[in-house]
Amino acid sequence: MSMIRNFSLGKGLCALTLVMLLNACSGTQHPENLYSALGGEAGIATITDYFIVEIANDERVIAYFEDTNVERFRYFFIEHVCMLSDGPCEYTGDSLVDTHVGMNVTGAAFNAIVEDLMAAMNKADIAIGTQNRLLARMAELREQVIQL
Ligand code: HEM
Repeated sequence: MSMIRNFSLGKGLCALTLVMLLNACSGTQHPENLYSALGGEAGIATITDYFIVEIANDERVIAYFEDTNVERFRYFFIEHVCMLSDGPCEYTGDSLVDTHVGMNVTGAAFNAIVEDLMAAMNKADIAIGTQNRLLARMAELREQVIQL
């Protein structure tokens, strides 16, 4: 009897190990969609709301946003992050080049905005690995925003 129990326990452990290995493999081959990792639309909205507060309290960049319609910025920033993270959105705002042309965004201002976004993602409890995936995609847009 106890042999049978040990045997089935062993089999159970094997099955569990197999499931864990398969999960580890699928995790490597198909990382979770970035949009989902950010918490989908609700998660991105939360990040954006924290981001707006960070910007409002950041004297390094606030001057750039002096005449900005915050509701419009919020709407299109959410849409943009959704698109950038492979979410189910079409970005319908102005192009990044058209939006930021003439603003004289400096490298320092760009870095400050990145820090504000990181602070916002921390407040929204986004895992560091997920944060880095979004930041890497944003870094690729640097040239479209900095047009000195
Ligand atoms: C990769 C980095 C960035 C991304 C993805 C981004 C994205 C966006 C998006 C989607 C909008 C809304 C566009 C629209 O209204 O149609 C926007 C607006 C704006 N962005 Fe950025 N942005 C970035 C960096 C920056 C930086 C570094 C600054 C300045 C420090 C900045 C300043 C602004 C301002 C002031 C507006 C509002 C424009 C207005 O009032 O019409 N952005 N940005």
